Amino acid sequence: MSAPLRLGIAGLGTVGIGVVKIIRQHQALLAARTGREVVISAVCARDPDKDRGLSLSNYAWERDPVALALRDDVDVFVELMGGDNGPAKAAVEAALGAGKHVVTANKALLAMHGQALAEQAEATGVLLRYEAAVAGGIPVIKALTEGLAGNDITRVMGVMNGSCNYILTRMESAGLSYEAVFAEADALGYLEADPELDVGGIDAAHKLAILSSIAFGTKVNFDGITLEGIGCISIDDIRAAADMGYRIKLLGVAQKTGRGLEQRMQPCLVPDTSPLAQLEGGTNMVVIEGDSVGQIVLRGPGAGEGPTASAVLSDICDIARGWRGPVFGQPAHSLQDAAPACAGAPAPYYLRMALEDKPGALAKVTKALGEAGVSIDRMRQYGHQDAAAPVLIVTHKTAASALHEALAAMRDTGVLVSTPVALRIESL
Ligand code: NAP
Ligand code: HSE
Repeated sequence: MSAPLRLGIAGLGTVGIGVVKIIRQHQALLAARTGREVVISAVCARDPDKDRGLSLSNYAWERDPVALALRDDVDVFVELMGGDNGPAKAAVEAALGAGKHVVTANKALLAMHGQALAEQAEATGVLLRYEAAVAGGIPVIKALTEGLAGNDITRVMGVMNGSCNYILTRMESAGLSYEAVFAEADALGYLEADPELDVGGIDAAHKLAILSSIAFGTKVNFDGITLEGIGCISIDDIRAAADMGYRIKLLGVAQKTGRGLEQRMQPCLVPDTSPLAQLEGGTNMVVIEGDSVGQIVLRGPGAGEGPTASAVLSDICDIARGWRGPVFGQPAHSLQDAAPACAGAPAPYYLRMALEDKPGALAKVTKALGEAGVSIDRMRQYGHQDAAAPVLIVTHKTAASALHEALAAMRDTGVLVSTPVALRIESL
């Protein structure tokens, strides 16, 4: 048997403790599968006195993650602290600079600094692995970089933030407002320390930026993502969408188009018969389309101690087995700058609005749509509420620019009681 693989684990929160537990529980299994023992040399967190539910006295304790990364008895630096800057970035750079392999679950770090870190790792000849950074326990990085390496990938899409999916599905099942379910999710500890990372779509967009880079051979480009969070979704939208045969999901889509690389993370309607619509709670789903394979669908737990630690262990096992490979599926220096698409692919849209209850109001709205070249597929007007008429419209496929022109014209009609809600409809 080869020499043990020695780990330094920085971060002993949900994921870090999960990793420690698996290494203890599956010591023999990991050795059998990798041909060497996987051992923890040292650990690091902010508070050495915190009760973490298990004894860590067998491991050396470091206060400073950089010092941990540089220890002589650490072969692999496992970064499980989080944050796109600060100690996580400093320690990962230090580890790579010192010729140590790095495993991380930190999507923010990779989305913001992935290209520079990949170049550093590949120049030093070490591995930088991050299976846990996207879609928790789903092995989507391995699927894209290895299982689908023979495909020209045409589209990657999916639901990649469990907290948002929990909020949207709970609003629907309990008939509760966004604000009420947000408070509930916060109290249950489902949200990031900065909840805007979840509900603002930022966390999911970090994940999409990483998948996009691997799928299309481009440098990670978080700033190229069209980004909208779920804060604008009301219980009225959830109900109205259901009434028209749809469910609302925070959906990421990345695809190569003739107009450039399109990357979007935004709330969308999906038909209630779509596999995406069936996702409940914190479950994630990633759909990948390639020229040879056609379409594959990966579904599973997107977060939590066990699933995320499981993904971290996949990377650790690969390193123990001597796996080699570039960070984003091809050498970092060969990744292209992504030319962002100047316009998204046309799509049908859902519009919800409240109109003044007076003659000709609806005609003015449909005229604005018609004059912008937006064709109506379906329309419903509901019973008046406080002298306002709630109206739902589903359009035929239209360019976003035409829809925005129509919305601007509608505003000028003076018949809108509030700003209309406009959501893309995606199909799978
Ligand atoms: P967490 O529970 O908040 O734990 C963070 C850990 O990092 C804590 O142990 C904390 O120490 C330690 N830490 C923070 N700043 C530090 C510093 N300056 N020096 C030393 N230690 C420091 O976070 P988590 O949920 O485990 O997430 C860890 C990473 O995994 C993040 O990048 C996250 O995005 C990613 N991730 C998490 C999940 C999930 O389901 N939780 C899923 C996928 C990816 P103390 O305990 O002493 O405060
Ligand atoms: N906040 C993230 C989510 C954690 O809800 O999906 C997993 O990355």
